[in-house]
Amino acid sequence: MKASSRSATRTPSRRATSGRRSASVKRSATPARKAPPALSIDVNRRLLNRYRFIEHESLHLLAGWLPKAETFELKCEIGRSLWESALHVNAFYLRLREIQSPAFQKPEDSALVTLMTELRHAPDEFALATGLYGVVVPSLIQALASHETATFPNSDQPSVYAIQHALVDLRALLQRIQPLLDQAAAAGKITARTRAWRTYITGLLAAAGGASGLEKRRTAPSAPACRVEFKLPCEAGRDARFTQRGSDLQTMPPEDDYREHTIEEFERYSTEMLAAETVAIVLCGFTSMPWEFQFDSARHLYDEVRHCLMGYEWMRAHGMNPFDSPQYLQIFRWRCQFPPVMQYCMLTMGNEVHAFPYRHRRVEAHQQSGDALSEQFVRYDIADETQHVRFGKRWLPELLKQVGETRDLDTYTADVLQVWESQYRTGKLTINVE
Ligand SMILES: [Fe+2]
Ligand SMILES: [Fe+2]
Repeated sequence: MKASSRSATRTPSRRATSGRRSASVKRSATPARKAPPALSIDVNRRLLNRYRFIEHESLHLLAGWLPKAETFELKCEIGRSLWESALHVNAFYLRLREIQSPAFQKPEDSALVTLMTELRHAPDEFALATGLYGVVVPSLIQALASHETATFPNSDQPSVYAIQHALVDLRALLQRIQPLLDQAAAAGKITARTRAWRTYITGLLAAAGGASGLEKRRTAPSAPACRVEFKLPCEAGRDARFTQRGSDLQTMPPEDDYREHTIEEFERYSTEMLAAETVAIVLCGFTSMPWEFQFDSARHLYDEVRHCLMGYEWMRAHGMNPFDSPQYLQIFRWRCQFPPVMQYCMLTMGNEVHAFPYRHRRVEAHQQSGDALSEQFVRYDIADETQHVRFGKRWLPELLKQVGETRDLDTYTADVLQVWESQYRTGKLTINVE
């Protein structure tokens, strides 16, 4: 990391220019130790709290937008940046709990709260991406980079460590997002309303004094006509390249037809975005759950994006076009008719718990066929799914408490699995259209 070569005893820049003296200078000069610190601990924690808040709100708004987003590559980046935001929140939380109590505090700056609340009301996914990645994240990077060198490098090294790692992620994120925005512009998807939204978010950021709050503040703009009140989606978005959106789940070729079954196995992986989208809905339904739940769920969500991408990688390596795969979007619609806690129970205690015997048989089949790529992919999947079941077992009791469920855990789970068995496993997928 670029800053790691710096001496841990370096003084902050403002002190360095005002207080350093050679040994020959008379001792009557003002001692450097009396100079004010560049960043007091109180300012430090207020700033760290702002960064944590920006990343935490980003996590929540990205979860809400993940199912809505249609452009596949942007949807995948939303999943990844959501998880990275969770890592940054966690890093700031670990530091903040050492210097303030409680560790999680809503900033007193109402302009910052307004900015982060308004971002989700973007008129479309590219307006959202432009507002968050084109306006807010660059300001956050600027604030973090400034903080990194302004604070005490030794006394505040734990903050510097967290900041440096967040900066690596955020700068890389913008490098991955920019080509997506360029492609959208070339395809005419950056419209007048995208620009109006960007201007609005830029104005709200200026009203908050930037991510740091230290810049000159301006009057907050009023919302543009293009603002669309955010509503949690109950339909999963897919872009125009996906032509098969709602096909019925077909019976898979028998496992002893190794070739045909394996093709279907990885085509099914390519549809696991549906699981990520369901975890997103669960996350949005429980933003007041303990931080550890949100942290685990962010990883759960991103794992499912990775499983989907694993399917894409496998299909492309075998000359197939993953965009031709059936998307089974009716599954997302079907799950969305149930409360988030029930969706979580069906996913973790239904789909995920029951997948292991099959996955282990597939590892054996791939080993026997000498198919190292397929074997490795499934073994990584098993490792992730083991964690997802662990998350389910840890958090389901807490979620049930949170919603005031009166049935005990076993009864509740059995009741939910009955619905899952009779509707999901049989492929009937009853949709109660409102
Ligand atoms: Fe998965
Ligand atoms: Fe999973």
